[in-house]
Amino acid sequence: QTCDKTLLRGRVLTFHAAPADESDTEAYSYHPDGAILMAGGLIEAVGEYAEIAVRAPGATLVDHRPCLLLPGFIDSHIHFPQVQVIASWGAQLLDWLNNYTFPAETGFADPAHSAAMAARFYDLLIGHGTTTAVAFCSVHPASAEAFFAEAARRDMRMIGGKVMMDRNAPEGLTDTAQQGYDESKALIARWHGRGRAEYAITPRFAITSSPAQLELAGALVAEHPDCHVQTHLSENRDEIAFTRALYPEAPDYLGVYERFGLLHAKTLLGHSIHLEPREIEVLAETGAKPVFCPTSNLFLGSGLFDDAGLRARGIAAGIATDVGAGTSYSMLQTLNEGYKILQLQGQKLHPLAAFHWITRGNAVALGLEDRIGTLEPGTEADVVVLNPAATEAMALRAEAAQSLSEELFILQIMGDDRAVEAVYVAGRAQTTSVAGLVTA
Ligand code: GUN
Ligand code: ZN
Repeated sequence: QTCDKTLLRGRVLTFHAAPADESDTEAYSYHPDGAILMAGGLIEAVGEYAEIAVRAPGATLVDHRPCLLLPGFIDSHIHFPQVQVIASWGAQLLDWLNNYTFPAETGFADPAHSAAMAARFYDLLIGHGTTTAVAFCSVHPASAEAFFAEAARRDMRMIGGKVMMDRNAPEGLTDTAQQGYDESKALIARWHGRGRAEYAITPRFAITSSPAQLELAGALVAEHPDCHVQTHLSENRDEIAFTRALYPEAPDYLGVYERFGLLHAKTLLGHSIHLEPREIEVLAETGAKPVFCPTSNLFLGSGLFDDAGLRARGIAAGIATDVGAGTSYSMLQTLNEGYKILQLQGQKLHPLAAFHWITRGNAVALGLEDRIGTLEPGTEADVVVLNPAATEAMALRAEAAQSLSEELFILQIMGDDRAVEAVYVAGRAQTTSVAGLVTA
């Protein structure tokens, strides 16, 4: 007899807290012969296979041994209209935006282009094990419409918003202060809280928004305190200098967003690299979250994110791909580059902390840890199945692995979409072969 329940068998790993250090076994649960019981899109039970299996005799069993089962990855900063910008040569931030990014985003005025790109974008996220992302769409409402419609089709928990940008960008890629407000407001009414969708109020960054636009963005934040807010902060020295010139009365870059009421616990600030002591204090006070974008920061030559400095002030950052300045959709490759950025500063990223970060850690940064990022019963059944021996080189290295941490570190450094064996979204198996989908 069958029922609508699915039982996954494998090596189950989930975090309950940020690991204090590599011996902090309280921070996680690991079941070498474990199981996850999923029903109605939620996690019903998790634990030892033998104990869980007897509770659901009619469930469909999927045996993923010897793979690892973890909560689906969360990407806390990505740009949907930059799927064809990734790997654009030879520029740092401001030239990269003007020469590659703005022209590509202009195309998202077309609903058909937006819809076609959205389907490809979600195939890529799933193929890389990412089940939730926080995304910038283009300035055009059509891009946000396509972004949310495709997420709804797949029942994915996605957060995003149309960028508000009314200056320092080409024609065809700007709104006005009022239009940005009105279009964002309409998208919030249409999508925020519909199914698993959540809206993020998205002023692109201080350079592309007039004071009038940031003022109205602040009004939206006050009117919709349950929406996320996302923007960019202190990524690049030239960007900071331009911002200071545009907002001479502000004490510093973050002071611009602060003055317009854009900072609260659901605010995500991409990059946050070159911070002044006052800015760090404001982050700590407001609860606004910096977001570490390792592959992007290296690719654009932006700088080295000071994770330990922020943690010392009690600030837990998010971590993200930032595609298309980021060079991989993989949160595993993001950890790989993040590890190296911290190495350059004498900081360490232990594999337990790393896997916590891309699951529960990012969920905490989003204020969504009661729904995603863990395998706690009652939370949403988004699961990634990982193979630490996915490639020849990984398999050979894995033969010598002595512990779970060592095996996780192989994934953290060598892993990418090839290590993603399967993905479940709201309890349903997804097709993870991107190549297969494209040619099908
Ligand atoms: N700052 C403003 N817009 C962008 C963007 O699209 N990518 C990055 N990396 N930084 C930005
Ligand atoms: Zn960005």
